[in-house]
Amino acid sequence: MMDAVASHYAGGGDLSSAIADSLRKAGKAMDRLTTADLATVDEFHIRGRKATLELAGHLNLDASSRVLDIGSGLGGPARTLAETFDCHVTGIDLTREFCEAATTLSAWVGLSDRVDFRHGDATRLPFDDASFDAAMTLHVAMNIAAKDRMYAEARRVLKPGGRFVVYDVLQGEGGEVLYPVPWAREPSISHLATPAAMSSLLSDAGFRVAKVEDSTEQCQRWFEEMAARMSESHRP
Ligand SMILES: C[S@@+](CC[C@H](N)C(=O)[O-])C[C@H]1O[C@@H](n2cnc3c(N)ncnc32)[C@H](O)[C@@H]1O
Repeated sequence: MMDAVASHYAGGGDLSSAIADSLRKAGKAMDRLTTADLATVDEFHIRGRKATLELAGHLNLDASSRVLDIGSGLGGPARTLAETFDCHVTGIDLTREFCEAATTLSAWVGLSDRVDFRHGDATRLPFDDASFDAAMTLHVAMNIAAKDRMYAEARRVLKPGGRFVVYDVLQGEGGEVLYPVPWAREPSISHLATPAAMSSLLSDAGFRVAKVEDSTEQCQRWFEEMAARMSESHRP
């Protein structure tokens, strides 16, 4: 099942070369790239970098913070935090190609000393207990059936008092998921929790749930704005 998730995301081919090609086509100078130049491809969640910064605001970060990003994808959220707070972020992701591309993209924008990426599974984190001051996970648990193990692992690697932010698509009242969706082409790798189940899972893992925010409306607006931009750009 884990392989099915990684192959859903991996695609095939050399990811960082493909990203470099599209950046050059968009007129970007590769020797002067910024994290903002990457933001349309490397923040792989609804509301992109804006959402990352909102979430990071709950983590009490400063330059001494060591942060874990669980399911770090191409590393955009990790770089955003490292650049904004001058902290150190470690990303871990099941898709090896994403970890390799995340490392390359970080070098392009001069952040290699403040981020690093490991290939691994959120339900078996390869880190010692109490290694991180804070942790985040953005749009990842939708692919993970064993959320109890995922959150227990997050709790284990956090220092006492460490904060954890979770930003995920949850099962609402609108009925069954209609496939394909960005995280799955079919149901076998899609595991949405309801808001109530998510809160219980986090409490059971030893977290005190300090705040719950439903961003459905902002997310819907973000999709509408994106659709409007796309139809504008396709207009003859
Ligand atoms: C929609 S992407 C989000 C990436 C990143 N968090 C972001 O917001 O840009 C979901 C990511 O979760 C990763 N993932 C899924 N299941 C995982 C697991 N069991 N352990 C670690 N990463 C996982 C995938 O490989 C993919 O990179």
